[in-house]
Amino acid sequence: MKEVVLSHPLITHKLAILRDKKTGTKEFREIITEIAVLLCYEATKDAKLKKVTIETPLEKYSTYKLNEDDYAFVPILRAGMSMVDGIITVIPNAKIGHIGLYRNEETLEPVEYYYKMPLNIKKRTVMILDPMLATGGSALATIKKLKHDGVKKIKFLCVIAAPVGIKAIQETYPDVEIYCANVDRKLNEIGYILPGLGDAGDRVYGTK
Ligand code: PRP
Ligand code: URA
Repeated sequence: MKEVVLSHPLITHKLAILRDKKTGTKEFREIITEIAVLLCYEATKDAKLKKVTIETPLEKYSTYKLNEDDYAFVPILRAGMSMVDGIITVIPNAKIGHIGLYRNEETLEPVEYYYKMPLNIKKRTVMILDPMLATGGSALATIKKLKHDGVKKIKFLCVIAAPVGIKAIQETYPDVEIYCANVDRKLNEIGYILPGLGDAGDRVYGTK
């Protein structure tokens, strides 16, 4: 499956604010939250619903509901945490797993420091959350761990993706679906996405 890109004037507008180096922490977080909601909306288009009967104030009504428990969201720490608030506004009962990874600044290889998944992770559809898909190293390391745990259905939700990162996932794990708000031009010589938005973790947490 080809990556899904949220092409929409509102997304272009929000990304312009997000990319701007003058945008402060508060607004940066708010926009990541908003984009996460829209990514979640797109990534759940194939969700299976269960039949339920409810009563409106006027009559009995047969309809469908989502089994929220079927889903687990896995933010890649740190920056991925910024997407969780948006996700839980729309799927409040989703389970949340955490994986801690940082890129070694010289080799760009991911270094793992934490991994904790909800029970029965292999029975759930898992959506990995990370604002940035650059070389793809962090994404591949996360997918590898989840597959090792038996997860069958994995989706990767990010705000900005670099072509090389998309290619890395699609070549290694063609069954993993990628959803992003935009595909940017390329990586620079130190692994940052161009035009990008800088270091997502630092901008979310104000650490630089
Ligand atoms: C950033 C980002 C991704 C990773 C992407 O995290 O949030 O996890 O880089 O790069 P890759 O595709 O080349 O692996 P970072 O390592 O800066 O850690 P942080 O979120 O803790 O700041
Ligand atoms: N990680 C980030 O936070 N930003 C980039 O541009 C690349 C990786």
